[in-house]
Amino acid sequence: MAVSIKTTAEIEKMRIAGKLAAEVLTMIEPHVKSGITTDELNTICHDYIVDIQNAIPAPLNYHGFPKSICTSVNHVICHGIPGNKKLKDGDIINIDITVIKDEYHGDTSKMFYVGKASILADRLSTTAREAMLVGIRMVKPGVQLGDIGHAIQKYSENENFSVVREYCGHGIGKVFHEDPQVLHYGTPGTGLTLEAGMTFTIEPMINAGKRHIKQLPDNWTVVTKDRSLSAQWEHTLLVTADGYEVLTLRDGETI
Ligand code: MF3
Ligand code: CO
Ligand code: CO
Repeated sequence: MAVSIKTTAEIEKMRIAGKLAAEVLTMIEPHVKSGITTDELNTICHDYIVDIQNAIPAPLNYHGFPKSICTSVNHVICHGIPGNKKLKDGDIINIDITVIKDEYHGDTSKMFYVGKASILADRLSTTAREAMLVGIRMVKPGVQLGDIGHAIQKYSENENFSVVREYCGHGIGKVFHEDPQVLHYGTPGTGLTLEAGMTFTIEPMINAGKRHIKQLPDNWTVVTKDRSLSAQWEHTLLVTADGYEVLTLRDGETI
């Protein structure tokens, strides 16, 4: 499938959807505390998206996903299903929000610490965010996706962490996951050449141990095979004439 170039009108809708997704992460932050369950976080986000934002939580019923957000705790890499387990001090959690507004998607995630994170967990989460930023800052017309994947991989592996290969960033628009696939590893000088008007996510999943994954019998939850910690950050991006725009930037966040 060809990679779509968004029109000015589509970009304006992507900006709105992206901003809403970002605002959900800001809204949920004070709730991420020891003792709350991930299902309670799900309910708060769901109600906010539906009742306040008049938007749609994209994960709900997406290929049968049963909840409105993904909550991935500690060794869970991605696609964790909110449930009745309580967060406890020292946990790290990725909350991944995707909203649909006026038919267009905004997709973003970040790590939260429950109480104080361990030195390793903090270093892992910081590295995963920095790996995302390394990729984001390269985005401009003419750059190839292999250049970006390589830079993310190099940055992460230099910190002695590993990059998950089975899941990647993705084009996004009216469709949640569309072309291109945005790998977080790769070879410079290969892959799609970016053009202004493309919209896609960068969302590296970084493991403290080996890169290998295992899927739980619920058919969604992806965990590290060696049960090491994993961290992920995600933004939705627009390729502009001379660089990038972060469509899911939060108030006060700097790239
Ligand atoms: N938000 C995830 C992503 O970044 C996808 C979640 S799909 C779901 O692409 F079904 F698990 F919600
Ligand atoms: Co995504
Ligand atoms: Co996401």
